[in-house]
Amino acid sequence: MCGIVGFAGKRNAKDILLQGLQRLEYRGYDSAGIAIQNGEQTTVIKASGRLQSLMEKAKHEIQGTLGIGHTRWATHGKPTEENAHPHQSADGSVTLVHNGIIENERELRAFLMQNGFSFSSETDTEAAANLLAYHYQKTGSPLKALTEALHMIHGSYALVILFKGCPDVIFTAKKESPLIIGMGAEETFIASDVPAILPYTRRIYDMESGEIAEVGRGSVHFYDKNGDHIEKTPTEITWNIDSAEKDGFDHFMMKEIHEQPKAVRNTLYAYLKNGNIDFSKANLTESTLKSIQKLHIIGCGSAYHVGMTAGYVIEDIARIPVRVEYASEFRYRHPVFGEHELAVMISQSGETADSLSALREAKAHGVPTLAIVNVVGSSIAREADHVLYTHAGPEIAVATTKAYSAQLAVCYLLAVALGHAKGAFCDAKYQVFLDEIQKLPEKIEQILEKKDSLRVLSAHLASLETLFLIGRGVDFSTALEGALKIKEISYIHAEAYAAGELKHGTISLIEKETPVLGVLTQKNLFPKTLSNMREVKSRGAYLIGIATEGFDVENTVDEVFYIPETLRPFAPSLSVIPLQLLGYYIGTMRGLDVDKPRNLAKSVTVE
Ligand code: AGP
Repeated sequence: MCGIVGFAGKRNAKDILLQGLQRLEYRGYDSAGIAIQNGEQTTVIKASGRLQSLMEKAKHEIQGTLGIGHTRWATHGKPTEENAHPHQSADGSVTLVHNGIIENERELRAFLMQNGFSFSSETDTEAAANLLAYHYQKTGSPLKALTEALHMIHGSYALVILFKGCPDVIFTAKKESPLIIGMGAEETFIASDVPAILPYTRRIYDMESGEIAEVGRGSVHFYDKNGDHIEKTPTEITWNIDSAEKDGFDHFMMKEIHEQPKAVRNTLYAYLKNGNIDFSKANLTESTLKSIQKLHIIGCGSAYHVGMTAGYVIEDIARIPVRVEYASEFRYRHPVFGEHELAVMISQSGETADSLSALREAKAHGVPTLAIVNVVGSSIAREADHVLYTHAGPEIAVATTKAYSAQLAVCYLLAVALGHAKGAFCDAKYQVFLDEIQKLPEKIEQILEKKDSLRVLSAHLASLETLFLIGRGVDFSTALEGALKIKEISYIHAEAYAAGELKHGTISLIEKETPVLGVLTQKNLFPKTLSNMREVKSRGAYLIGIATEGFDVENTVDEVFYIPETLRPFAPSLSVIPLQLLGYYIGTMRGLDVDKPRNLAKSVTVE
């Protein structure tokens, strides 16, 4: 997600802001900017691309000992200089930076344009700037303007704001997005993350949702969302820089595993409006969806596993045929297309060479294309006809986790939207689907709360060299993803098979103590998988179950990890979590670099 810095003190602000942004570069971004207040003058400098470009543009002397800065990870609008933060209101009275998603930005834009405000960017942040200016014009008070505006904003935000006429203070407001305030001697530091202020102070205030702060040079006052004064107690940071970048986790992978509830929630927020699925941002209208007769879903690695899962779910819910393919196969297969088909590319990076070539192959056949990607403005996003972004934020670890879960969420919505457009189920069922999908983040949190129970199993598996994973339907595609996580992180030879396939050859590999893990979440299929597990148990296998609570598996398996119940098409969002954790724990127990596994790159931009 975006990075935020702020400074109010006696030293020149420019270098402190730029150095703070440098310490946030690890978060990933695509543009950056700073705003410096010097009396009544506000200087704003922004640049797309790397921080070096901003530093080049800001290399001249800029007077001012108070300012704000931002590194942007694009969610609304392309990664251009116009869309970079800080943003200013149309009347120039408000300058701000923002991290989060304003869900009702279109309604706010309409209201503000009716009240004479113009817009120069595609961002939701500019709506916040103009809304604050609207209330600042009416009240003349930054605090009153904030309390009024925040009651109208829906979504998540960390806002850091300069108001014209108030050259000695910075205002901040928080709802869900992280924001901390560090206290120095006659200096105050603001940041979205600890690393940006650690070199100056370890005494911080952690802002809570609904709080507002008025930051001066070495001072801070806190208010609640109604503008009433509140008291807060500072804390001391004990982390070093390295652990601070990982929010206290040992690795980015574990941090990102724990960011999955937020990644799924933010992604769902982006496409659910007033209780309905809204794909208008991708210009995927109900009539377009209704006209689709067949889908081709294409991806690589984990993205392919999401595609496989989506294929099962879309056929199950929307009752239209889906062909799922590896991009590296699709691009050379001389694919055949019929009328009214859609090619769906799934890719976290949006730069995977095979997937980009597959997209171009589909377009060369005149087939409409939809990209489900995480990086705004990436090649696949730019070249596809329609784009549904995942809102997982930058994913640093090579092994994908939070982007995988966010992609699953988009695919569930796509399946339900297709089925609804085609009248495959009644409105009541539509609501049941959406209600359950929105419960997935909290169910993922429940699983993460009991992660430690996987350590003993991981220790057992870490001493072995092979592991089989089996499942049927979406349990099979999830088993494939689990096998990949374990392979790429722990280097154990893990293989996944359709449970019914074991007896067609692979069972010859089973011997005493061979570990076989069954993914058991499908009420209609798990008894069959269980009987496949009994077949290998009779040949000495050690059985592990990843099973939905309430499934009677304990008489068959040697170990079981339960996941919460959900509607069966959405179970992969839950069953994949323990498999990600197994990969992580086994890899760390084997002393491996789980964030940067050998031979792998985060994005494979070559064939
Ligand atoms: C996932 O853990 C792997 N790192 C890899 O399989 C990845 O999913 C694949 O390379 C596709 O990348 P993309 O999603 O960026 O296109």
